[in-house]
Amino acid sequence: KPFMEPEHKMFGSIRSAPWIYIKSGGPFWLAILLLFIYMSTQISGSFYDFWLNHWMKIEDYLWYIKAIGDQGGRNNSEHSTMTLHPQMDGTTESCLVILGVVLLVMLTFAVVQVFLTAHFCTRASRAIHDKMFNAVLRTSMSFFNNNTSGRILNRFSQELSTVDDLLSELLLESLVIGLYLLGTMVMVVIVNPFIIAIIAVCAVVILTVKTFYVRSSAQLKKLESASRSPVIAHVNQTLTGLTTVRAFNAQNFLTAEFHKHQDHNAGAQFLIIGLTRTFGFWVECVNLIYLCAVVASLLILNTGAANVGLAITQVVSMSTLLQFYMRLIVDLENAFTSLERTTEYSNLSSEVNWQANSTGNEIGYNWPEEGKINFVDVSFRYQKNGPKVLENLNFSVLPREKIGIVGRTGAGKSSLISALFRMAEVEGRIEIDDVDTSIISLHTLRSRISIIPQDPILFSGSLRKNIDPFDEYTDDKLWTALEEVELKEVISNLPNGMETEISEGGGNLSVGQKQLVCLARAIVRNNKILVLDEATANVDHETDALIQKTIRNKFRDNTVLTVAHRLITVMDSDKILVMSNGNAVEFDHPHILLQNEIGHLNGMVAKCGKITENAFRITAEENYNMRKHGDRR
Ligand SMILES: Nc1ncnc2c1ncn2[C@@H]1O[C@H](COP(=O)(O)OP(=O)(O)OP(=O)(O)O)[C@@H](O)[C@H]1O
Ligand SMILES: [Mg+2]
Repeated sequence: KPFMEPEHKMFGSIRSAPWIYIKSGGPFWLAILLLFIYMSTQISGSFYDFWLNHWMKIEDYLWYIKAIGDQGGRNNSEHSTMTLHPQMDGTTESCLVILGVVLLVMLTFAVVQVFLTAHFCTRASRAIHDKMFNAVLRTSMSFFNNNTSGRILNRFSQELSTVDDLLSELLLESLVIGLYLLGTMVMVVIVNPFIIAIIAVCAVVILTVKTFYVRSSAQLKKLESASRSPVIAHVNQTLTGLTTVRAFNAQNFLTAEFHKHQDHNAGAQFLIIGLTRTFGFWVECVNLIYLCAVVASLLILNTGAANVGLAITQVVSMSTLLQFYMRLIVDLENAFTSLERTTEYSNLSSEVNWQANSTGNEIGYNWPEEGKINFVDVSFRYQKNGPKVLENLNFSVLPREKIGIVGRTGAGKSSLISALFRMAEVEGRIEIDDVDTSIISLHTLRSRISIIPQDPILFSGSLRKNIDPFDEYTDDKLWTALEEVELKEVISNLPNGMETEISEGGGNLSVGQKQLVCLARAIVRNNKILVLDEATANVDHETDALIQKTIRNKFRDNTVLTVAHRLITVMDSDKILVMSNGNAVEFDHPHILLQNEIGHLNGMVAKCGKITENAFRITAEENYNMRKHGDRR
C-alpha cells in the first residue's frame, strides 16, 4: 500500500551546508581567491579611511607651518606644542596621489569581487540543481510512491529559489559587512587596545542572544509555514467547490473557517515580527554599552581628538550595521538550512546499475534478437520492506509468442510488467534471450522493450517529439506508423500536422488516441519485445480491435505480452498466463486451459454468459487447430 513519508528535517543542523556550497561553487582555490579579494577590498577600504584621517593631520600640520612662516618665525616656541608625527613629511599632492591609488585599488577589488561572486554563486546554484535533479531522475520508483509530486516540486521551487536568489545575496552581504565590522574593530583596537576586552564581553552577550533568536525564529518560521498551508488549501478548496458552497448556502460557515486559519497564520507572523524587534532591541542595548565604553575609555586615556572622532564615527556606524549583520547571519543560517534540504534529494540513492554494465561490457546493439523471456523464481516488491506482490513466478515465453496475461484486478499483472522493467528490486532471475537482465544497465534494458502502459503517457511537446523523442527517424517512417494506427487522417487534418502541440499529459487527445500514439511509437522503435497493458475500460471496441489487428500485423515476428481485461482480446493468443494474488496459476494455450473444467480461465469465461463463452471457446479452438497445422497466420 503506498504510504507517505513525513517530511523530515525541517530545520536541521547547518554545519555541512557551507562546505557543500563551497564545493559546488568551483575548485577550492576559487573560494580562497574569493575570500582573499573580499579581504583585500576591506583592507583597502580601511586603509582609505585611515589615510584620509592621516592626511587631515598633515594638512593641519602644513597649515600650522605656513602660519608660522607667515609670522616669520617670531613665535618659535609654539612649534614644540604641536604633537608631530615622524611620518608627517608628505605634501598635499603626494597624499592625494596615495588616496587616489588606494581608491582605485579598492574599486578594482570591489568590481572583481562582485563579478567573481556572481560567477561562483551561479556555478554553485547550477551544480546544486543538477545534482538534485539527476539524483531524483535516477532514484528508485519507491521514492515517487512515498513523496507527492507537490512536495517534490515544492522542494525544487522553494528551496532552490532560496539557494539561487537569497543565499548568494546573503553570502555577499554578510561577508562584506562582516569584514567591514572586523576592519572597524581592528581600527578601534589600534587606537585603543583596551577596547578588546569590551568587544569580547559584547561578543559573548550578542552571540548568546543570537543563539536564542535563531532557535526561536526557526521554530516560528516552521509554525508560520505550517499554518500557511491550510489558508491556501482552504481558498483552493472553496474555489473548486464554489457551486456546492452556494448550493448549500455555506458561505458564512466557510468565511468563519477562513478567518480561523487566517488568525492562526497571522498570529505566527506577528510573533516573528515581535521576535525580530526584540532581537533588534537587545543588540541595540549591547551596542549602546559598547559605545559608552569606547567613548569613556578614549576620554580617560586622553587620546587625540582626531582619533576619538574616528573611533566614535566608526562605532556609531557599526551599531546599526551590527544589528543588520546579526539578522543577515540568521537569514543566512536559514538559507543554509534550505540548502541542506536540497542535499537530502541530491543524496538519494540511485537505482542500481543505471548506466554501465556491472560486468564492464555492455550488451550487443541487437539484443534481444530472439525475444525469449524466462522468469525464474521471480519475486517482486515495490518497497524494500513491503509485501511481495509477485511470488516465485516461473514461466518461459518462447521467441515470437503472443502471450495474454489475465487475472482479477490487483492480481499483479501490471506488477509483472514492472518487474520486467526492473522498476523496483527483483528477487530471482529474469532472463531475456538467456541473458540475466540484472547485469544489463537499466537504461539499455528499458530502451530495448517497448511498452504501451495502462495509462498511456504523452509529454507536452510536439506530436513528432512524442513518437520519436530522440529525432532518430525520418518523417516518412513516422507517417507510415501513424497510418498503421489509423491516425494519419486525423493528424494530417490538423493545422500543424505532426508539429501539433500535445498539452501536458496528452490532455488534448482521447485515451484511445493516446494509446494509438504509444503504439505508433512502439512501431517505429520496432523492439523485439512489446508489452501492452490494456486500458480497455477507456478504449472502445473498435479502437481495441484496431490495436489488436495492428499488433498482429506489425509485430508478427516479435514477442508480445498483452495484459488484457477483455478476455476476447487474448483468446487467440499462443498462451494465456492467468495471474492470481501474485502467482501464475495457469499458463498454456487457451484451448487447453478451457478443457480443464475446474481451471481458473474456465471459471472466468463461464462468468461472461453462455453466448460469449461459446464464442471464446470457438476462437480458442480455431486458433489451436490453426497452430497445430502450422499456419496460424
Ligand atoms: N506502486 C505501488 N506500490 C506499492 N504497491 C503497489 C503499487 N502498485 C501496485 N501495488 C500493489 O500490487 C498489487 C498488484 O497490483 P497490480 O497493479 O499489479 O494489479 P493488476 O493486476 O495490474 O490490476 P489491474 O487489473 O487493476 O490493473 C496490488 O495489491 C497493489 O496494491
Ligand atoms: Mg494493472
